[in-house]
Amino acid sequence: MTLAVCPGSFDPPTNGHVDVIERASRHFERVLVAVVGNPGKQSLLEPKERVALLEEALAHLPKVSVEAYEGLLVNLVRERGASVILKGLRNTSDTPYELQMATINATLLPAADTMFVVSSPQWSFVSSSMVKEVARYGGDVSSFVPEGVARALARCYGTAIDA
Ligand code: PNS
Repeated sequence: MTLAVCPGSFDPPTNGHVDVIERASRHFERVLVAVVGNPGKQSLLEPKERVALLEEALAHLPKVSVEAYEGLLVNLVRERGASVILKGLRNTSDTPYELQMATINATLLPAADTMFVVSSPQWSFVSSSMVKEVARYGGDVSSFVPEGVARALARCYGTAIDA
């Protein structure tokens, strides 16, 4: 079975994430979306909530499952017998950071390869941090994130969303 692990902070999940996972799921028998803690980033949503939001947004993809994981990504990949770490690549600004992670992960676990799905152009400018900034000031994020995520952000920031 070809299993790809698709890791990320997903704080919050965006339409860009959903697009990458949808397209990845065409090429692998199973895709495990891993909500992984990033010690360098302070998170807004609890991992449990991020998992629930992703499950809702990806419910139409039977090959995809979601779980939270704390620890080194390569340990999860090894534990599950996955051969691929799958990440989205939005633009050239993402490249140095993604290549650094891919190279470190390849050194730690040579049996796994990192593969990239290039974002669809309409999502290449969408990031979780920009979405949070817009939501924090009461802006409409419904074009950038799944419906449940827009609701969760409105709840977090105490702002209203149009019904
Ligand atoms: O959504 P992000 O911020 O691009 O995701 C980064 C993430 C969570 C995939 C990365 O920080 C990660 O793998 N963290 C787990 C700890 C780890 O394995 N670090 C070494 C990777 S170089």
